[in-house]
Amino acid sequence: MKVVYFSADQDSAAWIPGLRAALPHADVQLWEPGSPRADYAVVWKPPQQLLDEQTHLKALFNTGAGVDALMKLRLPPQVPVIRLDDAGMSVQMAEYVCHAVIRHFREFEGYESDMEQGRWSFRKPRSRLDFPVGVLGLGVLGARVARAVAQFEFPVNGWSRTAKTLPGVQCFAGDAQLDAFLAASRIVVCLLPLTRETENLLDATRLSKIRQGGYVINVARGAHIVDADLLALLDSGHLAGATLDVFRVEPLPKGHPFWQHPQVTLTPHTSARTLRSESIAQIAAKIASLELGDNVAGIVHTQRGY
Ligand code: NAP
Ligand code: GLV
Repeated sequence: MKVVYFSADQDSAAWIPGLRAALPHADVQLWEPGSPRADYAVVWKPPQQLLDEQTHLKALFNTGAGVDALMKLRLPPQVPVIRLDDAGMSVQMAEYVCHAVIRHFREFEGYESDMEQGRWSFRKPRSRLDFPVGVLGLGVLGARVARAVAQFEFPVNGWSRTAKTLPGVQCFAGDAQLDAFLAASRIVVCLLPLTRETENLLDATRLSKIRQGGYVINVARGAHIVDADLLALLDSGHLAGATLDVFRVEPLPKGHPFWQHPQVTLTPHTSARTLRSESIAQIAAKIASLELGDNVAGIVHTQRGY
């Protein structure tokens, strides 16, 4: 069995030996233009040329959860695209989002600044009932985040394409219930895949439907948010702040207003990293299942875009 690996930004020097160790009977090679045809490709943001040349693939593995970069390419017909299915990401995402929610709710930013200035002052405790958290996207990551936030006894809302029932989460579904979801939420966490339907979803109209004093946490993709609309709503006071891990252009260009905005907290697309050993173990196990003709989780519906 032949496997090719390509990544636009992961460390191939570490992935190739890891894949070879997990797939001892396979010939695993770094993909280069003209590489022999393989049975499986393991990729992150590959060039179109890889997909055009690899005409005998049994499956295409994406070494991330989001497949938006792949969906922009011409995919080989009939070849299953398989994304990472958690692989250690959901606990990282739960940590990141709980940290951002609690940091805002407990006003830790204000306390940090007070302490830096030698000021010993208390803020009035806030009621978590006034800070309902809404999670856009209730998939592998969103459902885990909703569960983690609910453990801190915040009211939790969730929004998905199809209707769901999750313990401790008030579930909304579909376009018809989006406004009600936003109106019921004060802290809105975006964990949607980036698709035709979800691009620019958080524009001025939607963002202004979040409760007054709202807070936005974007850990999905930058293009879910219209940057200028978010900035305008922060400046008008409708939104109290935002924590942003993902951006339309990454790295975030120097001079972008997010860098200096006092109400915006930034991180460099790090909320849930691809963990190499967990991911390789998952991909190797799925290759073994496919070779036996078994079903695997994480197959992308390419028409739907996620
Ligand atoms: P997932 O399991 O595919 O879940 C996607 C969720 O979004 C599902 O609940 C789905 O609804 C919902 N959804 C999709 N389109 C929708 C629409 N038009 N309207 C309403 N709901 C919609 O994905 P995941 O594994 O949780 O990952 C989510 C995203 O997180 C990824 O696509 C990726 O972009 C991002 N991500 C970011 C990082 C980071 O470090 N920042 C790391 C990993 C992933 P249904 O359940 O009804 O299908
Ligand atoms: C990271 O952003 C991923 O989609 O895995």
